[in-house]
Amino acid sequence: MLITILKDTGVITGVSGILAILLVIAERWLNNYGDCKINVNNKRELTVKGGSSLLNSLSEEQVFLPSACGGRGSCGACKCKVLDGGGPVLPTEKPFLNQAELADNVRLSCQVKVKSDVSIEIPESIFNIRQFSSVITEIIDYTYDIKGITFQLEPGETIDFQAGQYVQLISEPYAKVKQGVTRAYSISSKPDDVNAIQLIIRLVPEGICSTWAHTQLKVGDKARFTGPYGDFYLRDTDADILFVAGGSGKAPIKSMLEHLAVVGTKRKMTYFFGARTPKDLYLTEEMESFEKLFDDFAYEPVLSHAAPEDNWQGKTGFVMPFFKDAIRDPKNTEAYLCGSPGMIDAVTKSLTDLGVPKEKIYFDSFG
Ligand SMILES: Cc1cc2nc3c(=O)[nH]c(=O)nc-3n(C[C@H](O)[C@H](O)[C@H](O)COP(=O)(O)OP(=O)(O)OC[C@H]3O[C@@H](n4cnc5c(N)ncnc54)[C@H](O)[C@@H]3O)c2cc1C
Ligand code: FES
Repeated sequence: MLITILKDTGVITGVSGILAILLVIAERWLNNYGDCKINVNNKRELTVKGGSSLLNSLSEEQVFLPSACGGRGSCGACKCKVLDGGGPVLPTEKPFLNQAELADNVRLSCQVKVKSDVSIEIPESIFNIRQFSSVITEIIDYTYDIKGITFQLEPGETIDFQAGQYVQLISEPYAKVKQGVTRAYSISSKPDDVNAIQLIIRLVPEGICSTWAHTQLKVGDKARFTGPYGDFYLRDTDADILFVAGGSGKAPIKSMLEHLAVVGTKRKMTYFFGARTPKDLYLTEEMESFEKLFDDFAYEPVLSHAAPEDNWQGKTGFVMPFFKDAIRDPKNTEAYLCGSPGMIDAVTKSLTDLGVPKEKIYFDSFG
């Protein structure tokens, strides 16, 4: 009896072992896609090792598509046209693609796996996006959870961007985080400073990249980023401007104002900065100094949770009720919004209700 049981157990173990080995071989064989070609815009041909996402395969070849969420399929920034070889559209892509995009072969490059030769179409401007190496030269504690960090480029390197654009910071492994990640951060310094950029980074609890930036980065450390990205930049018109930002959303607006201070402007501008309490306010003097510099500029911090003991004399509540008085001609007003998706939605609704054309409302959502 015992011998039979032992024999059976041995047979089962043996069969399981063989199956496991076969599975490993099959996995290796099935996932070995060999070299694949990526035809870009019918102009360039890249040879990559198959098996990675299209986004990563391109970035290995120094072609950097925007990927604000670092390839997690949650931002929708990494779209490109896949004309051939991309396989079926995945359920993870569908929430980000409208009917016209689906019909036009638009895909999320982080979700498309390169398993065979593919043909893609991307804007030519993508080829201007580069990876930069830098050294941290300054870290400023703006608030208890917001830091301003300056990244000095390597000697002789320059960066060409428009005020409002962002870069993608590449974090390094630290503590229990075994892999670096890529996250989007708006450039807060002005484009006229071509040898260094400043980023304003808010610490997100349990957030991989922001925790790395807050707890690991020190002056003298090296850091890498790619960029510049994005179509959130100041339009060169005469329209009145309404800036609205919350938290670290101050970053791109700071860049825009500092740039306007260099080139000069006569535009009417109002800047509403939403924060919870006085301890969430920062760079207030710098923003107020623009009131003296520009002909028609007002900086309006608005606190949503000011306590009586804060003795706050300024505006309170949400920013929206104050727009009506700040807008003199809705049709001739451009709005630049930056902050959480909830804030962007609420502000956009309020502005369109007031008559500001939707196409003149520009935003970067930090979601
Ligand atoms: C265009 C753009 C510009 C931006 N500019 C700025 C800027 O100037 N300054 C700034 O501070 N931020 C900016 N952001 C936001 C920034 O890109 C990051 O999203 C933010 O710093 C959080 O990244 P993280 O790696 O620290 O957090 P993540 O690791 O991405 O985590 C974010 C949150 O999700 C939770 N989480 C993570 N993984 C999981 C999971 N698997 N399941 C459930 N929950 C999870 C975490 O606990 C955390 O609360 C910008 C975003 C965009 C899109
Ligand atoms: S990189 Fe964010 S969805 Fe693809």
